[in-house]
Amino acid sequence: MSQLNKSKPYTIFNQSCYGLLDIADNSIDALITDPPYGISFQNHAWDKQLPQKQIWSDCLRVLKSGAFGLVFSSVRLMHRLMVDLEDCGFIIKDVLFWVYLNGMPKSRDIALDIDKELGIESKVVGKYNYVQGYKKDGAQNYYADNTKFKYEPSSELALHYKGAGLGLKPAYEPIILIQKPIEKGLTVAQNIIKYGTGALNLEKTRIPYAPGESKVGHNPHPEGRVSANIIRTDTLEDGYDKFFTIPKVRQHAEEFNNHPTLKPVDLMHHLVKLVSFDNQMILDPFMGSGSTGVACIALNRYFVGFELEENYYKIAQKRLQMAVQSKSSSLF
Ligand SMILES: C[S@@+](CC[C@H](N)C(=O)[O-])C[C@H]1O[C@@H](n2cnc3c(N)ncnc32)[C@H](O)[C@@H]1O
Repeated sequence: MSQLNKSKPYTIFNQSCYGLLDIADNSIDALITDPPYGISFQNHAWDKQLPQKQIWSDCLRVLKSGAFGLVFSSVRLMHRLMVDLEDCGFIIKDVLFWVYLNGMPKSRDIALDIDKELGIESKVVGKYNYVQGYKKDGAQNYYADNTKFKYEPSSELALHYKGAGLGLKPAYEPIILIQKPIEKGLTVAQNIIKYGTGALNLEKTRIPYAPGESKVGHNPHPEGRVSANIIRTDTLEDGYDKFFTIPKVRQHAEEFNNHPTLKPVDLMHHLVKLVSFDNQMILDPFMGSGSTGVACIALNRYFVGFELEENYYKIAQKRLQMAVQSKSSSLF
């Protein structure tokens, strides 16, 4: 097993991450990953199941003592993922909530199902007048059907259950903050001196005060507040937010990138800054189109990533090359 080569800003593998082959024990400073959620998102085969536990043992092996990790998850299955992480030796430190207001409610009107079950036709009350859908397989236009009819329940029983549904509008994604225990017998400071890991980089993720804000406690830090465990997408109405604010990214925001669960690079910047320091090595075993790596390059971190699917791997490769180029051109 080899030490990763720090003469290049990133190393990526088009292979399964299981075993984290080629990565030496205790060589990685932080883990940031957005693994399959196990919820069959848009029916993608790779999202059918949560990752097998083995990968978290592999991550524990390659991380340095005291290293932090951030693992994206879903509201429905984060509990299982957290148990897997804990079973494999990680400490659960926190759960960050990435809050957004533009999540799509997925529930349907169950009253219409009741009509159907009773063999009674629901009433047509108009047509939807908006474009509904998503861009399918890299298409230029929305895969849309705006000729859909609007229905209302007809039967007495269905009217009783009018508007009943099965779930709330999703408005946050959990991100599990974990830590590999610091080395036995060492204090946090001793662990940092030995490995460079063991603390969060709170200094670089502070939230600046609002312009003119005066009442910020008896000993305000010049750079702002300590970053909270809530990350928002929408600012409050007074235009200032005490949380870090990052919008959700549209699918196909980059022409060539059709990854269905693309994460905003601004969000990845914040997360990379939180769990690592300059020149450290970050691992993403489920890199997809490489958003973690793009943020690492901009922030002077080294990156190692794995992606099983060749088309996503190639997109990541292109994005990482572009990130390196834009960084080197900004130096002149
Ligand atoms: C949720 S996506 C990551 C998306 C990424 N955050 C982005 O911004 O593009 C998870 C990725 O893990 C990949 N994957 C699934 N199983 C894998 C495995 N065993 N090894 C490596 N990659 C895997 C999937 O192909 C998918 O692209």
